[in-house]
Order: sequence, then C-alpha cells, then structure tokens
Amino acid sequence: MSRRRLQLLLPLAAVVLVHAAAAGCRAFQIEEATVDDIQLGFRNGSLTSRRLVLFYLDRIARLNPLLHAVIEVNPDALAQAARADAERRRRRRRSPSARCGGPLHGVPVLLKDNIATRDRLNTTAGSLALLGSVARRDAGVVRRLRRAGAVVLGKANLDEWANFRTIQGTGGWSARGGQGRNPYVLSAAPCGSSTGSAIAAAANMAAATLGTETDGSILCPSSLNSVVGIKPTVGLTSRAGVVPISPRQDTIGPICRTVADAVQVLDAIVGYDSRDAKATRAASKYIPPGGYVQFLKPDGLKGKRIGIPNGFFNFPSGTVQQIVYQQLLDTVRKQGAVVIENLDIANLTVIQDVLNNGQQIVLPAEFKSSLNTYLSDLSYSPVRSLAEIIAFNDAHPIEERLKDFGQLIFLVAENTTGIGALERAIIHQLNKLSADGLEKLMKDEQLDAIITPNDSVSTVLAIGGMPAITVPAGYGKRGVPFGICFGGLKGYEPRLIEMAYTFEQATKVRKPPKFLRGTF
Ligand SMILES: *[C@@H]1O[C@H](CO)[C@@H](O)[C@H](O)[C@H]1NC(C)=O
Ligand SMILES: *[C@@H]1O[C@H](CO)[C@@H](O)[C@H](O)[C@H]1NC(C)=O
Ligand SMILES: *[C@@H]1O[C@H](CO)[C@@H](O)[C@H](O)[C@H]1NC(C)=O
Ligand SMILES: *[C@@H]1O[C@H](CO)[C@@H](O)[C@H](O)[C@H]1NC(C)=O
Ligand SMILES: *[C@@H]1O[C@H](CO)[C@@H](O)[C@H](O)[C@H]1NC(C)=O
Repeated sequence: MSRRRLQLLLPLAAVVLVHAAAAGCRAFQIEEATVDDIQLGFRNGSLTSRRLVLFYLDRIARLNPLLHAVIEVNPDALAQAARADAERRRRRRRSPSARCGGPLHGVPVLLKDNIATRDRLNTTAGSLALLGSVARRDAGVVRRLRRAGAVVLGKANLDEWANFRTIQGTGGWSARGGQGRNPYVLSAAPCGSSTGSAIAAAANMAAATLGTETDGSILCPSSLNSVVGIKPTVGLTSRAGVVPISPRQDTIGPICRTVADAVQVLDAIVGYDSRDAKATRAASKYIPPGGYVQFLKPDGLKGKRIGIPNGFFNFPSGTVQQIVYQQLLDTVRKQGAVVIENLDIANLTVIQDVLNNGQQIVLPAEFKSSLNTYLSDLSYSPVRSLAEIIAFNDAHPIEERLKDFGQLIFLVAENTTGIGALERAIIHQLNKLSADGLEKLMKDEQLDAIITPNDSVSTVLAIGGMPAITVPAGYGKRGVPFGICFGGLKGYEPRLIEMAYTFEQATKVRKPPKFLRGTF
C-alpha cells in the first residue's frame, strides 16, 4: 500500500486561525457556537444577530471557493438580522429577562436549494434550467422558520435535482453550485444530495441548515461530514414548496453540528400544512405536546432496546471502523441500553435492490407527476415541465455536464404516464416489504431503535417513511468521518432523540474540520 500523506492546506488554515483569533478578542466565540450559546449571547448582550450574519457571510466568502457549499447568500439577511435585533431590544426594554421568541429567533439558517423561498433568492435544485423561476410563496418549512424568527442566510449546494437526474449520481455537484468538497478531507466524497447543507454545518458557514431526503440524502452527507442529521417521519415536515421526487418518501429535516441544535430546528419546522394536507395531517399525531426539546435527556439510553440487524456492519475485523463501532456499541450498553444483535430484516436484499424491486419504475413516475405539479405552481418559470428541462439540458450540454453525468433518470421518468395499476401494485408490494421487514422486526423484538452505520439503512427506512438520526461516530484511517444511525418506526422521534443525544454526550466524537488535503 502506498504511503499516505496528509498535509494541511496551509494558507486556508492560516486564514481560519487569524479569523478565529480576531473573534476570540470579543466576548462571544461564534465558531462552533450552538443555538443555546447564541441565545445566551443575545440575552447577555455579547452578541447580535447582525454580527452573526456578518460572521457567516465572511466565512462563506472565505471558504466557499474551496468547499462549494453555498449557491447564493440572501441579500436581505443583514436586514432580517437587524430586524430581529431591534425586536429583541424592544422586548428587553419592556421586560429585561424575557426571551425574545423561540430558540431560532435571530439565528441564520441555510436552506438546501430545492426548498423554495419567495424572496430575492433563486430556488433551482442546483440546475440552470430553473434559474429565474419565481415561487408563489415560501415553502411550508420556510414559513415556519420565518415565524420562529430565523434569518434565511441563503441556499445550499446539492447533488443537482437532489440526485434524481442521473443513475451514476452527481456526487455533490450541481451546475449552479459546482463540486462540493468534504471539509475534513477535501478529496473524499462529501456525499449527497444535501451536500452543501452538511458541509456548511460542518464548516461553521451557518448556525443551522435544512436538507431533504428521499433515500439517504440527509443521512449520508451528515455521516460523511461529521454532523447530525435528522430524517423526520414522512409528513412530520411539510413538503409544500420543495422540489419533489416522491410524495411517498420525501421529507425535510435539519442538519446541524449538535443533536440539540437539530432538535430545536425540528421543533420549529414540524406541523400541519394545508398545502401538504394529507401527509402532514396523518403525521401530526406523532408531534408531542411541548415539542422535542424535552427529549434531550442525559439518560436517554437507559432501558432502551436496540437492535443490530444483520447485513450492515460488514467491516473486516481489525479495521478502524470495526473497532470503533464495537467500542460505540459498548458505550451504548454502558449507558443502560439492551443491545440485541444478530437480527434479520426479512427480504433485506430485495428491499435494497432498488434496480429490481420496482422502485426504478415507481420513483420516476412519482417524480414526473409531482415535479410537473411543482413547476406549474410557480408564478414564473423558464421551464414548465420535465420535458422542457430535458430539452434545456440538451441545449446546454457543457454547463450541465451532460457528457459526464447524462440525464438517464429524467429520460426514464419522461416516459412514464402517471401512477397506474402497475405502479399501485408496486407501491403495495413496497409497503408489504416494509411491514414484513423492519416494521415487523421492531414490533416482534419490541425495539426502540436499530443502529446501523452511515446511511446504509436508508432504503429500508425510505420505503416505510420511517425516521432516523445520524450522529458523528468516528474518523477513518484517512480522517474521513463516519456516522452512526438510530432508526425507528414512524413517530419514534422522541425516543430516537433521547438515544442520539445521550450517545452524543457520552462520546463527543465530533471535531471541527481541518480542511486536510489528502494525497493518496
Ligand atoms: C455571554 O454568553 C456567552 C455564551 O455563553 C459567553 O461566551 C459570554 O462570555 C457571555 N458574556 C457576558 C458578557 O456575560
Ligand atoms: C438569482 O438569479 C439571478 C439570475 O437569474 C441573479 O441575477 C441573482 O443575483 C440571483 N439571486 C441571488 C440572491 O443570488
Ligand atoms: C422512452 O420511450 C421510447 C419510446 O417507447 C423509447 O424508444 C426510449 O428508449 C425510452 N427511453 C428510455 C430512457 O427508457
Ligand atoms: C418477505 O418475507 C416474508 C417472510 O420471510 C415472506 O412471508 C413475505 O412474503 C416476503 N414479502 C415480500 C413482499 O417479498
Ligand atoms: C461509512 O463511511 C465511511 C466514510 O466514507 C466509509 O469508509 C465506510 O465504508 C462507510 N461504511 C458503510 C457501512 O457504508
């Protein structure tokens, strides 16, 4: 094996260090600050929302040429921050000890570029085809963020079209955002499709971010960029105003540096939305009175039954990951959980064989019909159908890197004609696979969660609309992060949060990235 050499990207590191030193002279250290730190800073007067926004804008300007995490910054972010500061001052004058709004008041949040905003920002899913399109209104989750007082900082890069343009995947690339880079090891895959959200959270380019997932798009980039990602139960968060793939599987969730931060964002974005009525009504029964923050408990693993399904931890013995995961499972046991190994998810190989189990027929059909609905609802758009997007790509082969990536899924999807008898039969079969598979296992074994590495369980969860939380678990030989995933049944967010939070507090794995340039 050739000798591996890791070297610091010196000029960048110097810039970051100088910057950190400058910030350190002041009372408040913004880098690595949590949502709670930020609110404390607001309350004790050592921080303003305006200063936060200035910090992140500066950080984005410095790091984005390297990391390509952000597509656009919001020209109105500073004004929104100033408004939040003024509100806080007004309220403090009236009642000095009062907290202003909720925990996200004045906090800058970055949105994946498939989440629409009705403001000066573009919403393009990374594609040049949607540039200039105008949404009729904010996405449901954005309305809730604004109501919570959050500042919309900008739009994050992604796998173009949330990785549904092409079969080989664009690997963190979009025409508008360029190639996203893993801030831990620049040559390592950043994964996607919520690439920029995870990179930006990891590299302190925003206080918090939102991603979306159809199958792995929050869990994978969160794992590989050493941040916390919550993939909520489908319908817990509104999909209205989000460039869709599959109404059965799409979900919107937070990507943040800590479990507590992610949970506070989750609290702000969950709930019923008349524009995504069926799914959000069905899931609203899962939302606990008093929200999710109450589940950030230090003893959240005590008495929990956690399953380790076969087929996921296939690391050769002696590898860093095998050793680390064994240690982590020991930690889970020490924290009072019962770990049950050697469990089987029925039909696992069928579930994971997305090219053969009917998903390759259903997802393109769902995509075409829901995308065309999204496009027709825009108040202005240069393209109004999938067919027009395909034509746009054909007309811009260089900018859209058609030769490298193609657009095969688009072409397959364009050939579909809606959800007919075949598609309904496949959906029925997928539901049965989920019911006979993880759902049955969890019930039979009375599990609170299963634990798996990275996003490897994502398809199992996706077909059942089930939730998961990924937490930083370690760093491989080259320093590339990996994650550990707590997955469960629909509505299991409270106990997943308890377990993930306790695990995070007991392990404290995450370290800020050092932008290593690996030579391999
Ligand atoms: C205010 O709170 C922040 C966050 O905990 C802390 O870093 C800072 O030192 C505090 N400043 C003052 C003036 O109390
Ligand atoms: C949105 O896209 C237009 C080009 O169509 C560009 O001029 C504008 O600056 C973009 N908005 C932002 C906030 O970057
Ligand atoms: C779409 O349908 C046409 C006509 O049946 C066929 O020639 C073409 O190969 C199909 N394309 C894909 C990508 O399936
Ligand atoms: C999955 O496995 C179970 C038990 O092994 C079997 O009874 C069932 O028919 C399978 N379901 C599907 C949809 O393949
Ligand atoms: C998890 O991610 C790490 C980092 O990319 C990788 O080395 C490892 O093989 C992944 N594990 C699984 C099970 O996918």
